[in-house]
Amino acid sequence: MTDEAVLGVIGGSGVYDIDGLDNTRWVKVETPFGDPSDELLTGTLNGQKLVFLPRHGRGHRIPPSELNFRANIHALKQLGVTEILSVSAVGSLKEELPPGTFVVIDQFIDRTFAREKSFFGTGLVAHVGLGHPVCNRLGDRIEESLKELAIPHQRRGTYMVMEGPQFSTMAESELYRSWGCDVIGMTNMPEAKLAREAEICYATVAMVTDYDCWHTDHAHVTVDAVIKVVVANAGKARALVASLAPKIASRQGACSQGCHTALDNAIMTAPAV
Ligand code: ADE
Repeated sequence: MTDEAVLGVIGGSGVYDIDGLDNTRWVKVETPFGDPSDELLTGTLNGQKLVFLPRHGRGHRIPPSELNFRANIHALKQLGVTEILSVSAVGSLKEELPPGTFVVIDQFIDRTFAREKSFFGTGLVAHVGLGHPVCNRLGDRIEESLKELAIPHQRRGTYMVMEGPQFSTMAESELYRSWGCDVIGMTNMPEAKLAREAEICYATVAMVTDYDCWHTDHAHVTVDAVIKVVVANAGKARALVASLAPKIASRQGACSQGCHTALDNAIMTAPAV
């Protein structure tokens, strides 16, 4: 593990660049898994090295099921990223999480089925642990920033990841609510799994944009409604990144949760003799 911390930011719907970056450069990165969603923007923010990737590409060209998650994480790793902040728009599955709330996710349920989910496979078999799928150290720093900025937030929450691209049926939405999920979105898996395989600390801040379709007092989710809330909250997301960046530089050594050593006990395949 390198001692230098580099913050990677994956921007979701409505977050296509980063304000206030110095020494910026858009960099094209090639990976063994094909092309990432776009070029990556490198620079320095408040003294912290930062790499930004617009998850859906600039102009939002790539739907969730067609994202090349492996190339995205591989490209961030190649540029030295040690911690990833994933910023994502989500629907709320709970009354007490109205649009505009930020949720620092700590668990996921992965219901996606049409995506490549691992860097490993035939020839090299690996099983990384995912009991704690996000880095709590990074989550704590995000929470500190949200408190400093007085952004309404919840510290923990379970993110239901659906395949999409259509939104849920009411029966599905009620099913996920009965499972105790807090929010629903289409993009954070397999992103979180691949970050763990790449030994990168990963945390999600989920920005609630709607009440999905279960809430009888609110209109069902539409793209228009999602965009309106994202635009209204983009300033807060930018302020969060600016506040978080210098906190990353002051991290001390390897992550105690083992994100940076996830592969140490994960490889099943016998070494070649
Ligand atoms: N992204 C934003 N709102 C969503 C919802 N209700 N379902 C899935 N993804 C979303």
